[in-house]
Amino acid sequence: MTRTPEFAEALALRTQAEPYRTKTIEHLKLPKRAEREEILRRAFYSPVHLNSEDVFIDLITDSGTGAMSDVQWAGLMRGDEAYMRSRSFFTFETAVQETVGYKHVIPTHQGRAAENIIMELLVKPGDIVLSNTHFDTTRAHVENRKGIPVDLMSDAVWQFAEPQPFKGNFDLAKLTAALEQHAARVPLIIITILNNFACSSPVSMANIKEVARLAGKYGIPVFFDACRFAENAYFIKTCEPGYADKSIAEIVKEMFSYGRGCWMSAKKDAIVNIGGFIATEDAEFAARCQERLVLYEGFYTYGGLARRDLEAIAVGMHEGIDEAHLQSRTGQVRYLGELLEQAGAVVSKPVGGSGVFIDVQAMYPHLAPEQLPGIALCADFYLEGAVRLGAAPFALHTIDPGSGQIVERMFQFARFAVPRRVYSKAHMEYVAGVAERVIQNARHSKGYRVVEATAVLGHFFAKFEPLAA
Ligand code: F0G
Repeated sequence: MTRTPEFAEALALRTQAEPYRTKTIEHLKLPKRAEREEILRRAFYSPVHLNSEDVFIDLITDSGTGAMSDVQWAGLMRGDEAYMRSRSFFTFETAVQETVGYKHVIPTHQGRAAENIIMELLVKPGDIVLSNTHFDTTRAHVENRKGIPVDLMSDAVWQFAEPQPFKGNFDLAKLTAALEQHAARVPLIIITILNNFACSSPVSMANIKEVARLAGKYGIPVFFDACRFAENAYFIKTCEPGYADKSIAEIVKEMFSYGRGCWMSAKKDAIVNIGGFIATEDAEFAARCQERLVLYEGFYTYGGLARRDLEAIAVGMHEGIDEAHLQSRTGQVRYLGELLEQAGAVVSKPVGGSGVFIDVQAMYPHLAPEQLPGIALCADFYLEGAVRLGAAPFALHTIDPGSGQIVERMFQFARFAVPRRVYSKAHMEYVAGVAERVIQNARHSKGYRVVEATAVLGHFFAKFEPLAA
């Protein structure tokens, strides 16, 4: 049989073959069932207290867990470890400038270090920070400044099974109401791309443009929380009318052109194990950031990183926007989503970028929220197959679009975050097999209770125990 080039290409697209091959491997161990029971008990039934060594497939985060390329590892060897004005800084600065289009680039050791500086400079007590959704450290940094983080995602996020291509968007009615009522207290608007805690859903270019227009009306600066900017651009290219023929690089430039600046945890789309930055067009603001940077992180040409790490980020900024990479990456996450849905989970659709998000309550309908179904789910995935994932309910502030008042809501999901370039198709199928067993047995779970927690970012520290029968 002869295959036309078009057919061959279609086949390649369907099979999502990875655009890389494996050069080195890391061994994994699967503890036996009885061992897993003991390990889970010792870890207080929480994924955050499990040792990595005891985990077979680790889907707790896609942050800093990706596999670097040979070119990135080579970059580490090129690192110029000078304290001041190292050559590696300029390589990094150029790569970031070329990618995001902003002139001033300030390295930080990760995303939250950038958030610390930005919030300190912009937020004062009583301020209201508006975002499509704050990530939990972003939320905590706003609260640390005694500001109020308000999330303006669309209600569609709560309807997991209802497919809408850009569920990560700002709800423009909520944003308009928030600005009409509170604009004088809003020091910045944060567009999180893609919108991690809103089921990893992307934000459309049309939405970004409209948010920038509304912000401009009130003279409020727009900043991007940009850690998954490349995946967001890929969804714009593949799902938003008018962008199919644009390159990812062009789409990225256009997205950032609507903001005053951005910060990025490079641990996501730049596929490095550590690093981040702030980038902005605003020379005055950049100078203020550099001063804080020297106080908290280090000199303005290394920002708390080894200089070799800057080399790895520079390479990663280019590899992260490679279309073949993005196709393979998003394809793998989508594949896991399809498998989990077949296994009986209610999956947020369409499947987004960083991982697959599922409806926890739908899996444990017999458990009330105070019986901690999310913890039950994480514990069950560990017990059934040494799979680690995350599931924390979180309280958020949003806006009632009718009254413009700030109201509280709870949001809960479980996230299977997929590290970049790490796991195989068979690993995804293994997770789906575990999911099938968890779903079959979920009705037997009696739930959990908290035995220890902390006030700030409690889910990183909390300990649990199973409720008695
Ligand atoms: N913003 C978003 C949208 C994030 O997802 C993260 C981290 C940060 C900021 C903070 O960056 O970790 O480098 O300090 N997200 C990880 C996650 C931890 O699992 O989603 P960081």
